[in-house]
Amino acid sequence: MDSKTIEKAATGLQGTIDIPGDKSISHRSVMFSGLGCTPVHITNFLHAQDCLSTAKCMEALGADVQFLSDTELIVTGHGLHGLHEPDTIIDAGNSGTTLRLMMGILAPQPFLTTFTGDASLHKRPMARVIKPLARMGAQIYGRQQNQKLPITIVPAGKKLQGMCYESPVASAQVKSAILLAGMYAEGDTTVVEPFTSRDHTERMLDAFGVHTEQDGTAVTIHPVTEFKAPESIEVPGDISSAAYWLVAGAIVPGSSLLLRNVGINPTRTGILDVLQDMGANIELINERTSGGEAAADIRVSYGTLHGVSFGAQIMPRLIDEIPVIAVAALFAEGDTVITGAGELRVKETDRLQAITDQFNKLAPGAIEGTEDGLVIHGGRSIQSASAFSYDDHRIAMSLAIFGAAGEGVTIENPDCVNISYPTFYKTLEELRK
Ligand code: S3P
Repeated sequence: MDSKTIEKAATGLQGTIDIPGDKSISHRSVMFSGLGCTPVHITNFLHAQDCLSTAKCMEALGADVQFLSDTELIVTGHGLHGLHEPDTIIDAGNSGTTLRLMMGILAPQPFLTTFTGDASLHKRPMARVIKPLARMGAQIYGRQQNQKLPITIVPAGKKLQGMCYESPVASAQVKSAILLAGMYAEGDTTVVEPFTSRDHTERMLDAFGVHTEQDGTAVTIHPVTEFKAPESIEVPGDISSAAYWLVAGAIVPGSSLLLRNVGINPTRTGILDVLQDMGANIELINERTSGGEAAADIRVSYGTLHGVSFGAQIMPRLIDEIPVIAVAALFAEGDTVITGAGELRVKETDRLQAITDQFNKLAPGAIEGTEDGLVIHGGRSIQSASAFSYDDHRIAMSLAIFGAAGEGVTIENPDCVNISYPTFYKTLEELRK
């Protein structure tokens, strides 16, 4: 097994970090550009395995994808109805977003597509997308009674029907898949969520001239006749990647960091609210809008944190940040209680279990897992240990920050950071004083 040792950052972390492009927005930039018919110049694209899976997928379906550099590309499609049948099975790798959103785009197409993915993606629930799409008339088949990869999407044989769908989960992947299928459907399509999930699909569709309507937690899309690609899309930095530095800056004594170009779309900024509630020194500067998305630079410095409680309502706004928020909570005074986080059990790994099993190796007895959350006792004694990433990028990066702030860590299977943040370890080393 590969491993990587992260030493304690004894004298703090200092420096400026250019935050890599947002993963959710990078996926959508390539997908939607591949449905347009004029070239789209995409900049600050996230050059990481997940988004490259989407780029390869769109290429296999007939879009022209030309990389000018790692983070800059031109994507040209052949229109909303211009995709063609792929020659081979498409591999979505580790990427739930690629697979779930593409099911929405492909359900209305007059050709067959089969998807596979890595071991983690084979375990993840797909019925949450297949079932509502089937209600619209889609024909999608998967292993274990249409729940799991491999998945084949066959032509529906007739136009999909718009519908009003009450989603049991607040999930942007579910919402987006249904809205994307709704573009091709007869009649309007509405998705109602328990709480509003990230709205990058709605915002980017707007840039392609497709207007959705929001009413509380409901979003409606009308059948689309004109899909007009913008000339360019500038992807803001990913707050889910910035999250590791927000926590590191807040908990490693002597730290002061400037995070440049962080996307601060309000459906994503739950981590800022929670860290500020915990007492973190966080300051947003140079707030601006770029391509329909808000962005800012963020300064964070070390200070004393205290435990907090939060639950289901804020969860969609910080769902991917729970592992690193758990690290912050371990270095805070008092307890942190997280509820309503059951969705973490169906991420790249069961993250509630991964956090309890692995983080307790570094802070024995400090974390109790509950069915849908965590109770974290801050301020317990911390030691160095080996801990397993479960091949989950967000667990690996959270362990690295834990080790840097604590007594060091050896991460088993560390390379999964390439899924969303290939330069993560290099950046961490550069910040040591
Ligand atoms: C994503 C939505 C979230 C998030 C994932 C990316 C997206 O998943 O966890 O990393 O780009 O739409 P869910 O929609 O399943 O909550």
